[in-house]
Amino acid sequence: MNAIEWKGKLSAIRDSFSVSITKEPAENPEALELHFLGRKGELALLLRDLKDIPLEERKPLGALGNTAKQEMEAKLAELKGATGAAGPAVKAGIDLTLPGWPFPKGSLHPLTHTMNRLAEGFLKLGFTMADGPLIEDDYHNFEALNFPPFHPARDMQDTFYVDAKDSGGKSLLLRTQTSGVQIRSMEKQDPPLRVFHTGRVFRSEAVDASHSFAFHQIEGLYVDKGVSMADLKWTVDTFIKDLFGSAVKTRFNPSYFPFVEPGAEVDMSCIFCKSAAGRCPVCKGTGWLEMLGAGVVHPNVLKACKYDPEKWSGFAFGAGIERFAMLLYGISDMRMLYENDLRILKQVQ
Ligand code: PHE
Repeated sequence: MNAIEWKGKLSAIRDSFSVSITKEPAENPEALELHFLGRKGELALLLRDLKDIPLEERKPLGALGNTAKQEMEAKLAELKGATGAAGPAVKAGIDLTLPGWPFPKGSLHPLTHTMNRLAEGFLKLGFTMADGPLIEDDYHNFEALNFPPFHPARDMQDTFYVDAKDSGGKSLLLRTQTSGVQIRSMEKQDPPLRVFHTGRVFRSEAVDASHSFAFHQIEGLYVDKGVSMADLKWTVDTFIKDLFGSAVKTRFNPSYFPFVEPGAEVDMSCIFCKSAAGRCPVCKGTGWLEMLGAGVVHPNVLKACKYDPEKWSGFAFGAGIERFAMLLYGISDMRMLYENDLRILKQVQ
């Protein structure tokens, strides 16, 4: 190769480098570096060919080659800066301009949302949050709540019994209601007291659209001097209106629970059938939805907790969380709340 040919080759390499470096989208600068400036790169091979050229011509050619090399290095450094090519991602051949893998955002379960909303309602009314165990003893789940052994009201709340060697002689069961938290709260604290609790309960029930062997309840208890049914009515009515809107009405029907006297079931006016009364599938055309059990705390319950019933009185209420969740989010079958089908869960964010 003579000097003229060598110069021609150098300018061809520079041209091809200029084309490569200005390509859109940008080429991987590491690959370009290897191709042009690497040990076996185009420019390195050309510089090696200098040895075939007479000594006196070699010097200025070498200088030309070096200038070309420096220019290429500077351009490559610029490109690396623009693409962040110095990082390990580019070294590994990862294209940072591609969209990332979808990373779906999790969210709270509709039942958790509902419990939080109910809790907010009672916190606003000055209630504090109380707690109790899921594995409960017979005394707190039944006896202290005025269900003596063999009381027929126990039949409605059959459950799962726990056979534990270290139960200290207590008969243990999965709690059937959150009402035991009433007892545990009064045992812990002197009156006056205003508490609520949300949590899971269990019953030996066949699963269908409105029953499950495990479900959730909210419980409330207020004990003070002179607390009456009127306080209960105001509290429940305010709470329901806060959740479902002020147009909703509530009504109390007499009912029986061993731990309250008088006892009531609380209905709210159906929120679905305003225009189609008589045919609404949710309230079965009655215009009312049963929402809570409630009543004035039975003196036997106060006595069991060493509260003097002559001095103190209170009200208690309890309700199924699933019912609230289904109404708040328009879910028609309770099982949808447990199947964890993302198509359902995603609708409640
Ligand atoms: N614990 C009752 C039930 O599960 C509901 C209730 C709670 C009733 C508090 C009255 C007062 O059916």
